[in-house]
Amino acid sequence: MSYEITKVEKGAKVDFKNPDPAFYAALGEDGMRDLMYRFYDKIYESEISHFFPQDEEEFAEVKKKNTKFFIQICGGPKVYEEESKGVELNEFMIRVHDDFSIYEKSRNEWLGTMREVLEETDIDQKLKDDFWDYLEKFSKLTVNTFSDGSKWFAQL
Ligand code: HEM
Repeated sequence: MSYEITKVEKGAKVDFKNPDPAFYAALGEDGMRDLMYRFYDKIYESEISHFFPQDEEEFAEVKKKNTKFFIQICGGPKVYEEESKGVELNEFMIRVHDDFSIYEKSRNEWLGTMREVLEETDIDQKLKDDFWDYLEKFSKLTVNTFSDGSKWFAQL
């Protein structure tokens, strides 16, 4: 089934693989930017908008930076590399989220928003499923705050 969301288990190892470069190849750089901008425009209106800068110019910077990450992780040019200061990309990305209290509910909202955007994107479903698989798994590692109030920071 497309776009399934499985539960986060605190402390469990998460096996994920980076998206198939065919996803990026199908969209191209402009298509990828369009997809990510549509995503963050919806995030700005979502229940998790409070995590992000409310100032429009600052939010525009977040969009730009995050798009670069997604271009690179999807096998496009290495346009994000300089941001991660030599730290392995996925490890760096988990640590970026440590400063925010991300609950499973926040992840569900994030993924739900991405699901809407993918549904509106006209490329092969298999490629979208593969991208989803990466997001569904990787996003578990960004969850660091639990309903009992405890914290746990994932390591790769
Ligand atoms: C697959 C999962 C996710 C990926 C790949 C991802 C990716 C990113 C990237 C690339 C950045 C920008 C880092 C930079 O400053 O260069 C970022 C920042 C951020 N992400 Fe995520 N993210 C994910 C899940 C989530 C979830 C579930 C939340 C829930 C709220 C979230 C909230 C944030 C916030 C608040 C920032 C900081 C924005 C700022 O600069 O103020 N992310 N994320």
